[in-house]
Amino acid sequence: MLIGLRDALDFAETRNCGIAAVNTPTLELLLAAIKVAERHDVPLIVQHAQVHETVNAIEDIGPVMVELARRSSAPLVVHIDHGETVEYIERGFAVGFNSAMFDGSRLPYDENVELTRQVVEIAGRHGFGVEGELGIMPGREHGPGASGVADETLYTRPADVAAFVQATGVTALACSFGTVHGLYKADPKIDYELIGELRRAGGVPIVMHGGSGLSCAEYRASIERGVRKINYYTYADKAGMDAAKKLLAEHPETHVFCELAVAATKATEENLDALARCLYA
Ligand code: 13P
Repeated sequence: MLIGLRDALDFAETRNCGIAAVNTPTLELLLAAIKVAERHDVPLIVQHAQVHETVNAIEDIGPVMVELARRSSAPLVVHIDHGETVEYIERGFAVGFNSAMFDGSRLPYDENVELTRQVVEIAGRHGFGVEGELGIMPGREHGPGASGVADETLYTRPADVAAFVQATGVTALACSFGTVHGLYKADPKIDYELIGELRRAGGVPIVMHGGSGLSCAEYRASIERGVRKINYYTYADKAGMDAAKKLLAEHPETHVFCELAVAATKATEENLDALARCLYA
């Protein structure tokens, strides 16, 4: 069934847990994520990032996400991740997404405020919640150029947060505090104290990006300080890739892609199951 972003975050607040927000640009990731939500009977967010348009367009994978979420016994949010333009967010809402993130983190502050506010207004007409971003997270979900290491000079400043939340009306705020998108090239050093300060300054749930690749202890300590939505992609998709590589190495005679897809879905599901056991404990 479909639920809103606010409903999912309220659940997390009441249960003192984190909501898994899984990027599902392919059917393999999508089926694995929904199966895990159903098995644990917990709210989960399936999301499509604008950067994954090269994998599948939002008009192609979006309706599949929405339909499977509607049919599911688990409470699911269908969320646009890292929307970089107002037009992209509108494209998502047009195909049934019921939640959005506007990422203006690389824009000048005033422009970020103005565009995020516009998205909050558009989403508000439908009753949808919006995630904004302040502070810069290194890297993208995939592709070259990811440093794999956090840069403290780009962390979110608590002094900016209250004004941003007030001026935009966001439901939740993505912040930079030590995680990075993509593969970690050095052990992550999460600034837990900063998470607590950001949560207190903004008064809204904090969103962790670059959430895959951390330990259960790191998730739980972040949740304790105020993280409520954990964005998760790279290591789930890597688990699928590793399973496909293993199958090919062990069975070089494999000649249909479907066999790789089945192996990848199973491995992705195992990866997400371990995440769910930690986040919703
Ligand atoms: P990872 O790919 O590093 O898990 O990050 C996912 C993310 O933050 C999506 O917005």
